[in-house]
Parts: sequence; structure tokens; C-alpha cells
Amino acid sequence: MKRPVIIAIDGPGASGKGTLARRLAAHFGYAYLDTGAMYRAVALQLLRGGADPSDPAAALDAALNLDTALLNDPELRTDPVGDAASRIAAYEDVRQALMVFQRGFATNPPENAAGAVLDGRDIGTVICPEAPVKLFVTASQAARAHRRYLELAARGEAADEAAVLAELQVRDTRDQTRSAAPLRPAPDAHRLDTTNMAIDDAFAAALAVIAAKLTPPGSPV
Ligand code: DC
Repeated sequence: MKRPVIIAIDGPGASGKGTLARRLAAHFGYAYLDTGAMYRAVALQLLRGGADPSDPAAALDAALNLDTALLNDPELRTDPVGDAASRIAAYEDVRQALMVFQRGFATNPPENAAGAVLDGRDIGTVICPEAPVKLFVTASQAARAHRRYLELAARGEAADEAAVLAELQVRDTRDQTRSAAPLRPAPDAHRLDTTNMAIDDAFAAALAVIAAKLTPPGSPV
């Protein structure tokens, strides 16, 4: 059987990588995994159990015994869960526990899909360094804060855009400076800055990158 095609999509929060990844997976008929949701689910389990996100042993216990029903929990996208997720994501053994599932998903996607799209922070660098396609999706902090603000408003959650920006800056710094799998582009990643792009433009740009990467040199286009 042919090896599944892996598309690795990394980038900071609210860069548009999730929307892009979902759309690419639907377009190619590949399986999709939102690895950020896994960190959020671990955080939610921890918080619901009354544990402290600054307790690495409790975080590891939640990661090893994750109730996968939490991956679809509406509370996953709330701010306290996002904050706790970014804390527990700094623990090396929590990352190891989730890595096993993530690698398995990429190399053996569910329902025998011909490929897998994974999005996160370390897909191109740690989880699937062998992926033939790696995108690093960015946007300015102001643009990302505005998008997150609109998302919250659409869900009916009151939010202050300046506070959203401040929170995003804290999480960016935490994701980029932790010692375990910090957020950074893989050397062979294609950078896609979506600051001034609508999702349709980002999708078209990603398709062009993927076509270039997956078309063997010298073959007719
Ligand atoms: O993309 P997100 O906001 O749902 O991610 C939640 C947190 O999980 C974020 O602070 C970074 C962390 N994360 C990570 O460290 N590695 C991943 N592969 C995905 C997310």
C-alpha cells in the first residue's frame, strides 16, 4: 500500500492554520488532526478534576488517561482552557504521551485515508519531520488578536480586543521559548503570512505550494 501523504501545518494561535488545515483535508480527502485540541482536552480534564496546571505529574496523568470525548467539548475553546493548555504543553512528558497518538495518526490515518493533515506547533519539527509538505502559517499579532476577538464575539462571549492581544502575546512567548518542542518553523517549511489574506487566498496559496512539493521534478504539470 502507498505511504500516506503527510501535510504538516504549524503556526501561532489564530494564524488561520486550523481553518486552512481543515479545508485542505476536505479538499484532498485526507484525515485531519487538530493537535492543539489534544492539549486543550488534557487541560480541560485537569481543570475539571480540580488539579493545578502547574503540577506536571497531574498533567501527565491527564494526558495518559485522556477522555477523548473531551476533544468535542464546547468548553475546549474558552480562554481558561487555552491558557492551561499552553502551560501543560511545556511539559516534555505530556508531549511524549500525545506524540505517540499523533505519529500513529499521520502514518496510519483513520479510515485508510490516502493522507493526513496535522496542525499544531511542532508537526514539521518534531512529530512528522519527514512530511513532504510543511507550511508555517503566520500573521501579525494585531491581525491574529482581531480574528480571535471576532471569533469570541461570534460565540457571544464578551471580549476586549486589547486584552485578547495581551493574552496572545503571553501565549506566543510561552510557546516560542519553552525548551520542549518550541514553536518555530522547520528549515524546510514554506512560510505563509496571512495578515492580509482572506481564507480563500490562503487556501489558493497553500494549494500552489502543495502542488509544487508533490509534483516530481520534470513531470508535466
Ligand atoms: O492551537 P491551539 O490554540 O488550540 O493550541 C493550544 C495550546 O497547545 C497552545 O498554547 C500551544 C499548544 N500546542 C502545542 O504545544 N503543540 C501542538 N502541536 C499544538 C498545540
